[in-house]
Amino acid sequence: MQNVIDALNWRYAVKTFDPSKSVSDENFRAILEAGRLAPSSFGIESWKFLVVENPELRAKLRAVSYGQTKVTDAAHIVVMAARTDVSALAGELVERTARIQGVDAASLDGLKNMVDGYVAGMSAEKALAYAREQTFIALGMMVETAALLGVDSCPMGGFDQAGVDALLGLSAQNLTACSMLAVGERGDDETASRPKVRRAFDEVVEFVR
Ligand SMILES: Cc1cc2nc3c(=O)[nH]c(=O)nc-3n(C[C@H](O)[C@H](O)[C@H](O)COP(=O)(O)O)c2cc1C
Repeated sequence: MQNVIDALNWRYAVKTFDPSKSVSDENFRAILEAGRLAPSSFGIESWKFLVVENPELRAKLRAVSYGQTKVTDAAHIVVMAARTDVSALAGELVERTARIQGVDAASLDGLKNMVDGYVAGMSAEKALAYAREQTFIALGMMVETAALLGVDSCPMGGFDQAGVDALLGLSAQNLTACSMLAVGERGDDETASRPKVRRAFDEVVEFVR
């Protein structure tokens, strides 16, 4: 890839993956790491990435994803889940920060109160939407990283959320499915050669001076 923009133009949402093609462990790991390293509001990391490897489970996952073949045919399928127990996230953030930065948790009371206060002011519905928003940032970074590595992917929202949650037992883990990411190599996919459809730069970007 000549540069980042070339990679992003090369990338498209793959409709048909080649089921015989794999992705190197190194590249797949880097894509997952890009999600882990994504920014999130306050650093709450309100997500979990589930790599579904069991073929029978993947077939069932496809059934609750409108039969989209990518779920079974891509080398990997990642379910991007959001935490539903949003009120627990401030405490975890403080514990994590104190441990990693080697500071006393009590010194982070200001941070905890700020995050707690921010979340406490939200309805349950808004808090869940807030947790879900963060996972899409991770999804975007994973899509971009895949492209930079020359690895094909498809972000997916076309699935029955309740069906995926039930299949993977997500509710019991205080999680709910937000999106999926299929990662692999494009197969015989006629959509690959279609010109990319995007609004013009000047329509999207406005320099306010
Ligand atoms: C959140 C999200 C959900 C999507 N869900 C699906 C999906 O379920 N199936 C699919 O084939 N493409 C899906 N896409 C891909 C979009 O249709 C695609 O990115 C868009 O049409 C632009 O095309 P391009 O990415 O190929 O440039 C999704 C994309 C995003 C960001």
